[in-house]
Amino acid sequence: MKKLIIINGPNLNLLGKREPEIYGSLSFTEFLSEIKKKYDTVAIDYYQSNIEGELIDKLQEVGFSYDGIILNAAAYTHTSVGLGDAVKAIESPVVEVHISNTFSREEFRHQSYISPNAKGVILGFGLQGYELAIQSFI
Ligand code: DQA
Repeated sequence: MKKLIIINGPNLNLLGKREPEIYGSLSFTEFLSEIKKKYDTVAIDYYQSNIEGELIDKLQEVGFSYDGIILNAAAYTHTSVGLGDAVKAIESPVVEVHISNTFSREEFRHQSYISPNAKGVILGFGLQGYELAIQSFI
């Protein structure tokens, strides 16, 4: 069975409560249990942290054995050279996901330190973006 992991960055633990007009009103826990049932031919792990170094540690931990990593680094996408370097350093393919279309928002969200080393980038499709990323690994 293929092993995938979804890694979410800062403030994404507040999904469902946080700016629902941008990020929707479903919590990630609810969404995750739905997609785990729907895609039961793959193992889907989940990790969320608000701390940059913990996200780097997790990428290093899973990045040489997992079949795919789905990464929404949230605000760190736009600021973290360290996360970008971690994506470059590991072997597992990374698909970058954003719930919102970051290019239709503030200019500082147009920069990504993840994209240059991602297998692909999915943005603007809401939580469905995570599903599209899973499908890309199946
Ligand atoms: C986000 C977009 C980022 O710019 C923002 O900082 C987030 C969420 C998204 O999924 O749309 O926290 O990554």
